[in-house]
Amino acid sequence: MRGTLTIAGLGPGSDALVTPEVSAALAAATDILGYAPYVARVPPRSGLKLHPSDNREELQRANEALRLAAEGGQVVIVSSGDPGVFAMASAVFEALEQAPQWQELPIRVLPGVTAMLAAAARAGAPLGHDFCAINLSDNLKPWAVIEKRLRLAAEADFAIAMYNPRSVSRPEGFGRALAVLNEAGCGERLVIFARAISAADEKIETVRLNEATPEMADMRTLVIVGNSQTRRVGRWVYAPRQAR
Ligand SMILES: C[S@@+](CC[C@H](N)C(=O)[O-])C[C@H]1O[C@@H](n2cnc3c(N)ncnc32)[C@H](O)[C@@H]1O
Repeated sequence: MRGTLTIAGLGPGSDALVTPEVSAALAAATDILGYAPYVARVPPRSGLKLHPSDNREELQRANEALRLAAEGGQVVIVSSGDPGVFAMASAVFEALEQAPQWQELPIRVLPGVTAMLAAAARAGAPLGHDFCAINLSDNLKPWAVIEKRLRLAAEADFAIAMYNPRSVSRPEGFGRALAVLNEAGCGERLVIFARAISAADEKIETVRLNEATPEMADMRTLVIVGNSQTRRVGRWVYAPRQAR
């Protein structure tokens, strides 16, 4: 049988948010690769080999997946959320650029529910008008780029979804991001802290930006900064469809 590589998104955590297309790919797989906590979401079965790895090993993992597919495996690389959003799909294509011998392999990218959309749905409709998404990790880009994008997004009055806000190895960045947005005049904007959305310990909290503190976010939190018109209605937060 010809080998294939599927790059699949497992959604934000709940099994109910795994798409039928992704479930079918997992059921047909011979090999599953990914960051260990994501691979742990796939139940073991006979005929399936699980290859968990560390979270800084994306290129190595992508090369290993391509190699296994070239050898005839039905290989699935898993990401949380959507595999094209700050996840494995780009890493696979980076690996493929360096490996012309694998460029004709059958490769599919299967979408998943990204954290930003799952979080927005819980809060109401904070992404109902124009928005952008920024990864606050400076592992793969300089902090100056992040700061510039935050400033320009604030100036353009986008709602801003912030992935990877704060980790043990990057405790400072999120505080700096809040300071940049406060300096850009966003202090009165609503900010949603959506933690572990769709998991058992899910938590969601909304405050004004000038009340937000760095400790309100961790690596399991997706932060959405509203635009200047974003408001509350009852327990919901939404961005109206009209801009001013
Ligand atoms: C490396 S990024 C991966 C994003 C993923 N590909 C996606 O589409 O959601 C990891 C970040 O996604 C966010 N995230 C992932 N799952 C989440 C969840 N269930 N609840 C809140 N945020 C989540 C957090 O900001 C976390 O630091």
